Formats: sequence, structure tokens, C-alpha cells
Amino acid sequence: MSLETCKLIDLPKIADPRGNLTFIEGGRHVPFEVKRVFYLYDVPGGADRGGHALKQCHQFLIAMSGSFDVILDDGNEKKRIQLNRSYYGLYLPPMIWREMDNFSSGSVCLVLASERYSEADYYRDYTPFINALKAHS
Ligand code: TYD
Repeated sequence: MSLETCKLIDLPKIADPRGNLTFIEGGRHVPFEVKRVFYLYDVPGGADRGGHALKQCHQFLIAMSGSFDVILDDGNEKKRIQLNRSYYGLYLPPMIWREMDNFSSGSVCLVLASERYSEADYYRDYTPFINALKAHS
């Protein structure tokens, strides 16, 4: 998977003086069936998250509050993307190495995932990830 397949997707935003509202509908806004939702919160200043690639799982990341950076790596190139709005999300296909840093105080990262949690789906070391990419190219 190349970085071109990682996409920032705009979500609907219903602006309202009482507070804005954004919604996500299955089969419409996210390009996979959602089987799991998890969120990162209370991230201490200076902490890094991620540091892995997934073999099968598609994910969609949203900065529900605050901001953070996602560093993407497809084995050929790297790109840093800041997520800082709750009305867009970052779609990540499988086989993209991702790291996350620069979490602002009080930030919350919501993740929609196409698979239930499975440790067997992770590459947690970079070298086996790169070797797998080479083996499939
Ligand atoms: P991990 O995916 O390594 O976190 P991050 O990439 O954000 O740094 O997950 C951290 C721990 O939480 C790890 O022991 C696995 C566990 N975990 C679950 O049990 N279920 C889940 O859905 C997720 C995402 C993680």
C-alpha cells in the first residue's frame, strides 16, 4: 500500500451556535465495515503512540479533541500529518507503518477499525514489516 491510499476524509459538520455536530454513517463515510472502536486519551506530554503496522486491519483516525501528528511510512516514503479537527478523519489501509506524537494536552484520538483486536495482525518491529513489503513486491 502506498501513502497515496492514505486519505483525509471530510466528515459532515452541522454547525450550530449551540455546538457543532459531526456524524459518521456505516457504508458511507468510512471505506470499511467498523468492527471495533477505541480511543487514546490522557496521553502525557511528549508521549509517542503507534509504532506498528497492521497486516489486515483498516483504520480511521479522528482527533475528537485537541491535536496530534501521525507519521506515515509505506516503506518508500514518510509523511507527517497533523490531525486537529473533529470533522475530518485519516483513513489508513493495512501495511502502513504509523507513529503518533505531538499530542496536545487533553487530546483524544478516536480510532474506527475494520477488525477486532488481534496481536497477530501487528508488525511491532520495523524490519519484519519492510521484509514483508519486499516479499510481496
Ligand atoms: P497498541 O495498539 O500497541 O497501542 P498504540 O499503538 O496506540 O500505542 O495497544 C496498546 C495495548 O492495548 C496493547 O497491549 C494491546 C492492547 N489493545 C487491546 O487490547 N485492544 C485494542 O483494541 C487495542 C487497540 C489495543
